[in-house]
Amino acid sequence: MSDIKKRPVILDGDPGHDDAIAWVLAATCPEFDIKAITTVAGNQTLEKVTYNARRIAALLHLDIEVAKGRNRPLCGDLIIAPNFHGETGLDGPKLPEPHLPLSSLSAIEMMAKVLRESEEKVTIISTGAQTNTAALLIAHPELHEKIEMISTMGGGLRNGNWTAGAEFNILVDPEAAHIVAHSGLPVQMCGLDVTEKALVYPEEWDRIRALHNPVAEVVAGWFDFFFIHVSSLGWAGATTHDPCAVMSLVHPEIFDIRDYYVDIELNGKYTRGATVADFDNISGNKPNMRCVVGLNREKFVDYLVEACSRFEGWEI
Ligand code: RIB
Ligand code: CA
Repeated sequence: MSDIKKRPVILDGDPGHDDAIAWVLAATCPEFDIKAITTVAGNQTLEKVTYNARRIAALLHLDIEVAKGRNRPLCGDLIIAPNFHGETGLDGPKLPEPHLPLSSLSAIEMMAKVLRESEEKVTIISTGAQTNTAALLIAHPELHEKIEMISTMGGGLRNGNWTAGAEFNILVDPEAAHIVAHSGLPVQMCGLDVTEKALVYPEEWDRIRALHNPVAEVVAGWFDFFFIHVSSLGWAGATTHDPCAVMSLVHPEIFDIRDYYVDIELNGKYTRGATVADFDNISGNKPNMRCVVGLNREKFVDYLVEACSRFEGWEI
Protein backbone atom coordinates (compact mmCIF):
# COMPACT_ATOMS: atom_id res chain seq x y z
CA MET A 1 0.00 0.00 0.00
CA SER A 2 1.55 3.30 -1.10
CA ASP A 3 2.33 5.57 1.83
CA ILE A 4 2.16 8.74 -0.34
CA LYS A 5 -0.07 11.29 1.46
CA LYS A 6 -2.95 11.84 -0.96
CA ARG A 7 -3.94 15.40 -1.88
CA PRO A 8 -7.72 15.79 -2.43
CA VAL A 9 -8.36 17.73 -5.63
CA ILE A 10 -11.34 19.02 -7.61
CA LEU A 11 -10.89 19.32 -11.38
CA ASP A 12 -12.95 22.22 -12.73
CA GLY A 13 -12.70 23.03 -16.43
CA ASP A 14 -14.12 23.44 -19.92
CA PRO A 15 -12.71 20.50 -21.92
CA GLY A 16 -11.24 21.54 -24.33
CA HIS A 17 -8.17 19.70 -25.57
CA ASP A 18 -5.72 21.12 -23.07
CA ASP A 19 -8.12 20.59 -20.15
CA ALA A 20 -8.38 16.98 -21.29
CA ILE A 21 -4.61 16.55 -21.35
CA ALA A 22 -4.39 18.20 -17.93
CA TRP A 23 -6.92 15.68 -16.59
CA VAL A 24 -4.96 12.76 -18.08
CA LEU A 25 -1.94 14.10 -16.21
CA ALA A 26 -3.95 14.51 -13.00
CA ALA A 27 -5.29 10.96 -13.28
CA THR A 28 -1.74 9.57 -13.30
CA CYS A 29 -0.56 11.52 -10.25
CA PRO A 30 -0.31 9.09 -7.31
CA GLU A 31 -0.39 12.02 -4.92
CA PHE A 32 -3.82 13.17 -6.19
CA ASP A 33 -7.15 11.91 -4.87
CA ILE A 34 -9.58 13.30 -7.47
CA LYS A 35 -12.76 13.99 -5.50
CA ALA A 36 -14.88 15.70 -8.17
CA ILE A 37 -14.97 16.79 -11.79
CA THR A 38 -16.98 19.94 -12.47
CA THR A 39 -17.61 21.77 -15.71
CA VAL A 40 -18.02 25.38 -16.75
CA ALA A 41 -18.93 26.91 -20.11
CA GLY A 42 -16.00 28.38 -22.01
CA ASN A 43 -14.26 26.49 -24.79
CA GLN A 44 -17.72 25.33 -25.77
CA THR A 45 -21.23 25.47 -24.30
CA LEU A 46 -21.83 23.88 -20.92
CA GLU A 47 -23.69 20.93 -22.46
CA LYS A 48 -20.79 20.16 -24.81
CA VAL A 49 -17.96 20.52 -22.28
CA THR A 50 -19.94 18.42 -19.78
CA TYR A 51 -20.44 15.62 -22.30
CA ASN A 52 -16.70 15.85 -23.05
CA ALA A 53 -15.84 15.68 -19.35
CA ARG A 54 -17.98 12.55 -18.93
CA ARG A 55 -16.26 10.91 -21.91
CA ILE A 56 -12.81 11.81 -20.54
CA ALA A 57 -13.82 10.26 -17.20
CA ALA A 58 -14.83 7.09 -19.09
CA LEU A 59 -11.55 7.07 -21.02
CA LEU A 60 -9.58 7.35 -17.77
CA HIS A 61 -11.78 4.90 -15.83
CA LEU A 62 -12.48 7.61 -13.26
CA ASP A 63 -15.45 6.50 -11.17
CA ILE A 64 -16.47 10.08 -10.55
CA GLU A 65 -19.80 11.54 -11.66
CA VAL A 66 -19.33 14.86 -13.48
CA ALA A 67 -21.25 17.79 -12.01
CA LYS A 68 -22.45 20.53 -14.32
CA GLY A 69 -21.61 24.12 -13.41
CA ARG A 70 -22.55 27.50 -14.69
CA ASN A 71 -23.59 27.86 -18.31
CA ARG A 72 -22.55 31.49 -18.45
CA PRO A 73 -20.30 33.97 -16.64
CA LEU A 74 -21.44 35.84 -13.51
CA CYS A 75 -21.99 38.93 -15.64
CA GLY A 76 -22.22 39.49 -19.39
CA ASP A 77 -22.50 37.05 -22.26
CA LEU A 78 -20.66 33.78 -22.83
CA ILE A 79 -17.82 33.63 -25.34
CA ILE A 80 -16.77 30.24 -26.72
CA ALA A 81 -13.73 29.04 -28.72
CA PRO A 82 -14.84 26.63 -31.49
CA ASN A 83 -11.91 27.81 -33.63
CA PHE A 84 -9.51 26.14 -31.19
CA HIS A 85 -11.53 23.17 -29.97
CA GLY A 86 -14.06 22.49 -32.74
CA GLU A 87 -17.83 22.16 -32.77
CA THR A 88 -17.84 19.46 -30.06
CA GLY A 89 -15.28 21.30 -27.96
CA LEU A 90 -13.08 18.20 -28.16
CA ASP A 91 -12.87 17.42 -31.88
CA GLY A 92 -10.48 14.74 -33.07
CA PRO A 93 -10.02 11.27 -31.56
CA LYS A 94 -13.01 9.01 -30.94
CA LEU A 95 -13.80 8.71 -27.24
CA PRO A 96 -15.86 6.20 -25.27
CA GLU A 97 -19.39 7.16 -24.34
CA PRO A 98 -19.94 8.25 -20.71
CA HIS A 99 -19.82 5.28 -18.32
CA LEU A 100 -21.62 7.07 -15.46
CA PRO A 101 -24.71 9.27 -15.28
CA LEU A 102 -24.38 13.02 -14.88
CA SER A 103 -24.34 13.94 -11.19
CA SER A 104 -27.68 15.11 -9.78
CA LEU A 105 -25.72 17.82 -7.96
CA SER A 106 -24.69 21.10 -9.53
CA ALA A 107 -20.97 21.87 -9.65
CA ILE A 108 -21.28 24.26 -6.71
CA GLU A 109 -23.24 21.69 -4.67
CA MET A 110 -20.66 19.02 -5.53
CA MET A 111 -17.72 21.28 -4.66
CA ALA A 112 -19.36 22.22 -1.35
CA LYS A 113 -20.09 18.54 -0.58
CA VAL A 114 -16.46 17.56 -1.22
CA LEU A 115 -15.15 20.41 0.94
CA ARG A 116 -17.62 19.62 3.74
CA GLU A 117 -16.83 15.90 3.78
CA SER A 118 -13.07 16.03 3.28
CA GLU A 119 -10.91 15.70 6.38
CA GLU A 120 -8.03 17.30 4.48
CA LYS A 121 -8.10 20.71 2.86
CA VAL A 122 -8.94 20.45 -0.86
CA THR A 123 -7.10 21.89 -3.88
CA ILE A 124 -9.24 23.25 -6.70
CA ILE A 125 -7.58 22.99 -10.13
CA SER A 126 -9.40 25.47 -12.36
CA THR A 127 -8.63 25.31 -16.08
CA GLY A 128 -11.56 27.29 -17.44
CA ALA A 129 -13.41 30.44 -16.45
CA GLN A 130 -13.39 30.73 -12.65
CA THR A 131 -17.18 31.05 -12.47
CA ASN A 132 -17.86 27.88 -10.44
CA THR A 133 -15.09 28.64 -7.94
CA ALA A 134 -16.31 32.22 -7.48
CA ALA A 135 -19.90 31.04 -7.06
CA LEU A 136 -18.72 28.50 -4.46
CA LEU A 137 -16.82 31.20 -2.54
CA ILE A 138 -19.87 33.49 -2.57
CA ALA A 139 -22.35 30.79 -1.56
CA HIS A 140 -20.21 29.07 1.08
CA PRO A 141 -17.99 31.45 3.07
CA GLU A 142 -17.99 28.83 5.83
CA LEU A 143 -16.08 26.45 3.53
CA HIS A 144 -13.20 28.76 2.58
CA GLU A 145 -11.12 27.24 5.38
CA LYS A 146 -11.43 23.81 3.70
CA ILE A 147 -9.70 25.05 0.52
CA GLU A 148 -5.96 24.34 0.48
CA MET A 149 -5.33 26.43 -2.63
CA ILE A 150 -6.70 27.27 -6.05
CA SER A 151 -4.42 26.38 -8.96
CA THR A 152 -5.57 28.18 -12.08
CA MET A 153 -4.74 28.39 -15.74
CA GLY A 154 -5.65 31.94 -16.64
CA GLY A 155 -4.40 35.42 -17.27
CA GLY A 156 -1.18 36.79 -18.62
CA LEU A 157 0.96 39.37 -16.83
CA ARG A 158 2.33 40.80 -20.03
CA ASN A 159 -0.18 39.93 -22.81
CA GLY A 160 -3.50 38.40 -23.66
CA ASN A 161 -4.53 35.82 -26.22
CA TRP A 162 -8.19 36.67 -26.82
CA THR A 163 -7.74 40.41 -26.76
CA ALA A 164 -4.43 42.23 -26.59
CA GLY A 165 -4.85 42.55 -22.85
CA ALA A 166 -6.88 39.54 -21.76
CA GLU A 167 -6.41 35.78 -21.75
CA PHE A 168 -9.51 33.71 -22.64
CA ASN A 169 -10.36 32.11 -19.26
CA ILE A 170 -10.21 35.44 -17.45
CA LEU A 171 -12.05 37.31 -20.21
CA VAL A 172 -14.89 34.78 -20.16
CA ASP A 173 -15.58 35.81 -16.55
CA PRO A 174 -13.49 38.71 -15.21
CA GLU A 175 -15.79 39.23 -12.20
CA ALA A 176 -15.26 35.61 -11.14
CA ALA A 177 -11.49 35.97 -11.48
CA HIS A 178 -11.66 39.16 -9.40
CA ILE A 179 -13.53 37.34 -6.63
CA VAL A 180 -10.96 34.51 -6.63
CA ALA A 181 -8.02 36.93 -6.73
CA HIS A 182 -9.37 38.81 -3.70
CA SER A 183 -10.61 35.76 -1.77
CA GLY A 184 -7.62 35.79 0.57
CA LEU A 185 -7.05 32.13 -0.35
CA PRO A 186 -3.74 30.86 -1.78
CA VAL A 187 -4.05 31.22 -5.57
CA GLN A 188 -1.43 29.92 -7.99
CA MET A 189 -1.78 31.46 -11.45
CA CYS A 190 -0.42 29.72 -14.53
CA GLY A 191 -0.87 32.51 -17.03
CA LEU A 192 0.33 32.85 -20.58
CA ASP A 193 3.70 33.88 -19.10
CA VAL A 194 4.39 30.20 -18.56
CA THR A 195 1.84 28.45 -20.79
CA GLU A 196 3.09 30.12 -23.96
CA LYS A 197 6.52 28.76 -23.03
CA ALA A 198 5.01 25.31 -22.38
CA LEU A 199 5.26 24.49 -26.08
CA VAL A 200 5.04 20.86 -27.16
CA TYR A 201 6.35 20.25 -30.67
CA PRO A 202 4.87 17.72 -33.15
CA GLU A 203 7.90 15.45 -32.88
CA GLU A 204 7.40 15.47 -29.11
CA TRP A 205 3.81 14.39 -29.11
CA ASP A 206 4.88 11.76 -31.62
CA ARG A 207 6.82 10.36 -28.63
CA ILE A 208 3.44 10.05 -26.91
CA ARG A 209 1.87 8.42 -29.98
CA ALA A 210 4.81 5.98 -30.16
CA LEU A 211 3.84 4.66 -26.72
CA HIS A 212 1.06 2.79 -28.56
CA ASN A 213 -1.38 2.62 -25.70
CA PRO A 214 -5.01 3.69 -26.15
CA VAL A 215 -4.83 6.82 -23.98
CA ALA A 216 -1.52 7.95 -25.49
CA GLU A 217 -3.05 7.61 -28.97
CA VAL A 218 -5.96 9.83 -27.89
CA VAL A 219 -3.65 12.43 -26.32
CA ALA A 220 -1.55 12.57 -29.50
CA GLY A 221 -4.78 12.98 -31.48
CA TRP A 222 -5.82 15.86 -29.22
CA PHE A 223 -2.49 17.55 -29.88
CA ASP A 224 -2.95 16.95 -33.63
CA PHE A 225 -6.31 18.72 -33.62
CA PHE A 226 -5.43 21.53 -31.20
CA PHE A 227 -2.30 22.34 -33.23
CA ILE A 228 -4.28 22.94 -36.42
CA HIS A 229 -5.51 26.33 -35.26
CA VAL A 230 -2.55 27.11 -32.98
CA SER A 231 -0.08 26.63 -35.85
CA SER A 232 -2.23 28.86 -38.07
CA LEU A 233 -1.48 31.63 -35.56
CA GLY A 234 2.25 31.13 -36.14
CA TRP A 235 3.16 28.93 -33.17
CA ALA A 236 5.81 26.29 -33.93
CA GLY A 237 4.55 24.18 -31.02
CA ALA A 238 1.27 23.57 -29.18
CA THR A 239 0.76 26.10 -26.37
CA THR A 240 -0.06 23.53 -23.69
CA HIS A 241 -1.89 25.77 -21.25
CA ASP A 242 -3.98 23.73 -18.78
CA PRO A 243 -1.49 20.95 -17.93
CA CYS A 244 0.68 23.69 -16.33
CA ALA A 245 -1.98 24.14 -13.61
CA VAL A 246 -1.57 20.46 -12.73
CA MET A 247 2.16 19.97 -13.26
CA SER A 248 3.12 23.07 -11.28
CA LEU A 249 1.53 21.36 -8.27
CA VAL A 250 3.30 18.02 -8.64
CA HIS A 251 6.64 19.20 -10.07
CA PRO A 252 7.05 22.79 -8.79
CA GLU A 253 10.82 22.37 -9.09
CA ILE A 254 10.67 22.73 -12.88
CA PHE A 255 8.75 26.01 -12.71
CA ASP A 256 9.71 29.64 -11.98
CA ILE A 257 7.13 30.97 -9.50
CA ARG A 258 7.02 34.59 -8.31
CA ASP A 259 4.74 36.26 -5.74
CA TYR A 260 2.98 39.39 -7.02
CA TYR A 261 -0.03 41.48 -6.19
CA VAL A 262 -2.35 40.94 -9.17
CA ASP A 263 -5.64 42.68 -9.86
CA ILE A 264 -8.22 41.98 -12.54
CA GLU A 265 -9.33 44.82 -14.81
CA LEU A 266 -13.13 44.88 -15.03
CA ASN A 267 -13.94 48.17 -16.73
CA GLY A 268 -11.35 48.98 -19.40
CA LYS A 269 -12.77 49.33 -22.91
CA TYR A 270 -9.66 47.59 -24.33
CA THR A 271 -8.34 45.97 -21.16
CA ARG A 272 -11.32 44.20 -19.52
CA GLY A 273 -10.10 40.82 -18.24
CA ALA A 274 -6.45 41.86 -18.01
CA THR A 275 -4.45 40.46 -15.06
CA VAL A 276 -2.39 43.41 -13.90
CA ALA A 277 0.69 42.60 -11.79
CA ASP A 278 2.26 45.14 -9.44
CA PHE A 279 5.80 43.92 -10.26
CA ASP A 280 7.52 46.68 -8.26
CA ASN A 281 5.04 46.65 -5.38
CA ILE A 282 4.12 50.28 -6.04
CA SER A 283 0.71 49.74 -4.41
CA GLY A 284 2.29 48.40 -1.23
CA ASN A 285 -0.27 45.61 -1.33
CA LYS A 286 0.75 42.15 -0.09
CA PRO A 287 1.13 39.67 -2.99
CA ASN A 288 -2.12 37.72 -3.54
CA MET A 289 -0.94 35.37 -6.27
CA ARG A 290 1.83 32.86 -6.81
CA CYS A 291 2.50 33.62 -10.49
CA VAL A 292 4.09 30.84 -12.54
CA VAL A 293 6.18 32.67 -15.10
CA GLY A 294 8.61 30.12 -16.53
CA LEU A 295 9.48 26.43 -16.76
CA ASN A 296 11.99 23.84 -17.88
CA ARG A 297 10.18 23.00 -21.11
CA GLU A 298 12.04 19.79 -21.84
CA LYS A 299 11.26 18.38 -18.40
CA PHE A 300 7.61 19.46 -18.83
CA VAL A 301 7.44 17.41 -22.01
CA ASP A 302 9.24 14.46 -20.42
CA TYR A 303 6.73 14.39 -17.56
CA LEU A 304 3.82 14.53 -20.03
CA VAL A 305 5.27 11.58 -21.99
CA GLU A 306 5.91 9.67 -18.77
CA ALA A 307 2.32 10.27 -17.63
CA CYS A 308 0.96 8.89 -20.90
CA SER A 309 3.17 5.81 -20.59
CA ARG A 310 1.22 4.83 -17.46
CA PHE A 311 -1.65 3.59 -19.64
CA GLU A 312 0.22 0.58 -21.05
CA GLY A 313 -2.34 -2.18 -21.69
CA TRP A 314 -5.29 0.15 -20.96
CA GLU A 315 -8.73 -0.89 -22.16
CA ILE A 316 -11.10 1.72 -23.57
O1 RIB B 1 -6.25 30.67 -22.89
C1 RIB B 1 -6.14 29.28 -22.75
C2 RIB B 1 -7.26 28.74 -21.91
O2 RIB B 1 -8.51 28.97 -22.56
C3 RIB B 1 -7.18 27.21 -21.73
O3 RIB B 1 -7.74 26.87 -20.49
C4 RIB B 1 -8.04 26.67 -22.83
O4 RIB B 1 -8.61 25.40 -22.51
C5 RIB B 1 -9.13 27.71 -22.88
O5 RIB B 1 -10.08 27.38 -21.88
CA1 CA C 1 -9.53 25.23 -20.39
